[in-house]
Amino acid sequence: MSSVQKPTQIQGIPFASIAEEFGTPVYVYDGEKITSQVKAIQNAFSSIPLKIKYATKALSNINILKLIKKAGAGIDAVSVEEVRLGMMAGFKAEEIMYTPSGVGFEEIEEAVALGVMINLDSIPLMRQFGDKYGDSVPACIRINPHIMAGGNLKISTGHKASKFGISVDMLPEILEVVKEKQLKIVGLHIHTGSDILDAEIFLRGANVLFDAAKQFPDLRFIDCGGGFKVAYKAGDPYTDIDEVGEKVSKAFRDFCDRYGKELELWLEPGKFLVSESGYFLVKANVVKKSPSITFVGVDSGLNHLIRPMMYDAYHDVYALNNPEGNEATYNVVGYICETDTIAAERQMGEVKAGDILVIKNAGAYGYSMASNYNSRLRPAEVLVWEGRAQLIRKRETFEDITHNQVILNL
Ligand code: LLP
Repeated sequence: MSSVQKPTQIQGIPFASIAEEFGTPVYVYDGEKITSQVKAIQNAFSSIPLKIKYATKALSNINILKLIKKAGAGIDAVSVEEVRLGMMAGFKAEEIMYTPSGVGFEEIEEAVALGVMINLDSIPLMRQFGDKYGDSVPACIRINPHIMAGGNLKISTGHKASKFGISVDMLPEILEVVKEKQLKIVGLHIHTGSDILDAEIFLRGANVLFDAAKQFPDLRFIDCGGGFKVAYKAGDPYTDIDEVGEKVSKAFRDFCDRYGKELELWLEPGKFLVSESGYFLVKANVVKKSPSITFVGVDSGLNHLIRPMMYDAYHDVYALNNPEGNEATYNVVGYICETDTIAAERQMGEVKAGDILVIKNAGAYGYSMASNYNSRLRPAEVLVWEGRAQLIRKRETFEDITHNQVILNL
């Protein structure tokens, strides 16, 4: 966690000058924070063969992927488009795990043609895959471990009623299909959810995989997914990655020794690597009072950052020119024609129209979940790396939202 709770600059570059140069709204990422988060995981698991497969969906700008690659990690991709982005960033096919959810077989074929590891997430897909490829294309199986975990139900993916993976109770059927279709299963995978605090949950998940792993002679890796929790405000707990590393590595070593297996452990962190690296700079358009609430309306909304509305996610917000202030209480709201409350009843420094607000934890699932709702334009993205702030995605223009429309002569 950053020692400065409400930063006003990154690597010596003031947010004020970034807002001035690139305008608002703008997503700003601290590249060094991303690199140091990758290192923290590498260190925590240094006693075993570890591969990090960054969850591209969290923040998929090609430059961010390049930094991830530089730091020594691979990627997890959930669509063929993410696979292609990864390849544009320089990842080799063997560094990419492809974990789709219920996609059509044409997309699987496309991914196989690109040469990436395929994560099979249903029995029908295992059968279809076996019919076409048999043992010629090694693959992984996504198991649903029946573990309820994660910050809220919407981001819990490994419980019994979740759509993801193949129920661990169906292991006998999985094994039958592997045998019948002569599949070469080299990996077993789970992803239990997001914002998981407790190290024990990761150990429980790993144990489900170790237990299943005994039955797969060709296994080369087990993949425990992502889901490490980050801090969203001062004093907010976050996953103790060293504790997870210690517990899971020990269980991993015990399992490999006991069953004579030579495996790799794969992890797929998204938030842990990029959430805290990101700051979303927005401008106050209006400060308006109702009888009970003072609203700060900003030049953004759920079209740019949907997490507060979709998951009730907490994002720290502060006034750039008075970060530690707490003399006013505001509801910070967006400009979308919906109730897009970014932050409710927040004490912060006094805000006037034209002031810049900083929204924290904007690196993960911020830009990557942005849309053009209300026919608004998506913001710019800026990367701070080696002491320089550089544009890594242009702000959209009106052209961007019209150029795919086919205008009929009506
Ligand atoms: N691996 C798989 C297969 C996943 O589906 C995910 C996230 C991850 C890894 C990375 O999880 P992370 O380490 O980022 O928690 N949009 C939500 C989070 C949904 C995550 C979906 N899958 C949010 O903003 O909280």
